Amino acid sequence: MSAARKIRLVVLISGRGSNLQAILDQAASGELPVEVAAVISNRPGVQGLERAQRAGVPTLELDHQPYADRPAFEAALIERIDPYQPDLVILAGFMRVLTAGFTEHYRGRLFNIHPSLLPKFRGLHTHERAIAAGEDEHGASIHFVTAELDGGPVIVQARVPVLSGDDPDILAARVLEQEHRLYPQAIRWFAEGRLQLMGEQVCFDGAVLEQPLRLEQDGGR
Ligand code: GAR
Repeated sequence: MSAARKIRLVVLISGRGSNLQAILDQAASGELPVEVAAVISNRPGVQGLERAQRAGVPTLELDHQPYADRPAFEAALIERIDPYQPDLVILAGFMRVLTAGFTEHYRGRLFNIHPSLLPKFRGLHTHERAIAAGEDEHGASIHFVTAELDGGPVIVQARVPVLSGDDPDILAARVLEQEHRLYPQAIRWFAEGRLQLMGEQVCFDGAVLEQPLRLEQDGGR
C-alpha cells in the first residue's frame, strides 16, 4: 500500500458505475489511498448509486431536468459537492456537458475519463466511430477537465487493439477493462502529489508532460 495520505474524493456519475466500482474496490482493499466521500448522480435510480450504497458511501441524486439552464444546475451541484471538501472530484460516466463556471471552480482537481485516445473521438459513440474510421488502436484517456468538451490536458491513456470482427460492444468491453485500471492509477498519482495542472499542461513528478503517460509506463505502487 502507498504511503500517501488519503484524499477525499467526490464521484459524479450518470449510470452503471463500473468505474466507480473499480475505485470503491481499490479503496476498500487499501490499494488506493482515497476516501470516497460521496457519489452524486444527475440521473435518479441508477446502478452506480446502488454500488455506492453497498459500499457505505453517502449518495445524492440531483436531477438536472428541473433546472432552467446549465449554470443553475451546476450551482446546485457545487452546493452539494463542496460541503464534502473534496481534494479531487471525478467524472465517472457523468454525461453532462459542464460550463466554465463549474470547471474553473474545480480547476486542477477535476478529472474525467473518456473512452477514446483523445484528441481523437471527443463526444459520443466513440467505439463505433473508431471502428468506422478504420483505427487499429483505440483506448481510454484520463484528463483534467477544462471548459472545452473532452478537451482538457490528457494525463494518461490505455491502449487496446481494434481487431477484425469487433463490433462497438466488443470493443467497448475491451476498453472498459482498461478503464478500470486506468482511473485508479491516475487517482493514485494525484493522491501521491505527483500530478498537477499547470496552466494548460500536466506536470508529472515536477516535469511538464510532452505527451500523455501510458498506463504501462509506471506500476505506480
Ligand atoms: C465509461 O466507458 C466512460 O469512459 C464513459 O462512460 C462509461 C461509463 O461507464 N464516459 C464518457 O463517455 C464521458 N464522455 P460506467 O458508468 O460503467 O463507469
